[in-house]
Amino acid sequence: MMEDLIAKIKTDCLPRHIAIIMDGNGRWAEEQGQERLYGHFHGVESVRIIVEGCAELGIEYLTLYAFSTENWDRPKKEVEGLMSLFVDTIRKEVPVLNKNNIRLHVIGDLSLLPQDAHRELHEALDMTSHNTGLNVILALSYSSRWELVNAVKQIGLDVAAGKIQADGINQETLEQYLATSEFPDPELMIRTSGEYRISNFLLYQLAYAELYFTNTRWPDFRKENLVEAILDFQGRKRRFGKTDKQIEEEAQLV
Ligand code: IPE
Ligand code: IPE
Ligand code: MG
Repeated sequence: MMEDLIAKIKTDCLPRHIAIIMDGNGRWAEEQGQERLYGHFHGVESVRIIVEGCAELGIEYLTLYAFSTENWDRPKKEVEGLMSLFVDTIRKEVPVLNKNNIRLHVIGDLSLLPQDAHRELHEALDMTSHNTGLNVILALSYSSRWELVNAVKQIGLDVAAGKIQADGINQETLEQYLATSEFPDPELMIRTSGEYRISNFLLYQLAYAELYFTNTRWPDFRKENLVEAILDFQGRKRRFGKTDKQIEEEAQLV
């Protein structure tokens, strides 16, 4: 059945970049009478499956929202539990990433991370930096407003230092100062667990992304859910501000 679903995917118009807000771990756990951390723990299995699924399907970039700037305000016990889960998971997964030619990247304010998480992460970035397959971008201690403020500050400093001209600033300039400067914009953004919001995630980069929302909680999200999201994406009509007629004419020219 899974094969039938995968066979429906048009391999010539896959999204190059999928971004996921992995939401619903806490509720998933609470619904089973468990502590929230139990849900985060199970969420790691979904990460493993979806990373592998994206690699198999030939997706080039996968951004995973793992921890937001605002998540630092959660109860201390949950934050500490999440941090040690990140350290353990990253340590365990590096050999698997290397085996599958997957390169790890991270975006976010890493200065806020505890030292062991910081160290583990940098080791993992180094150890996978030669891989040329799927790029997995972990958004950790990330928020778009943090990223944009940071970019504006850096641009200001570079203007003051005479490195760039203020009146020469355009979209490309701004993009070079974002944490995502190395990556193309996501074409498909998935949010699990039935919340219909962006929660400070890639506000600039999602400008023309197709948004896909599912009620499935993140710990229940499996490869078939990913395939369903991709199939839904492939049924969308992307206009980028133009008319249907223009889009059809352009398609005929290719
Ligand atoms: C997403 O699940 C994971 C993180 C934000 C770290 P939540 O922890 O937000 O789970 P819910 O939304 O409370 O169910
Ligand atoms: C967004 O989920 C952040 C991550 C999934 C890491 P939240 O659960 O923190 O978002 P809100 O608070 O419901 O908007
Ligand atoms: Mg949530």
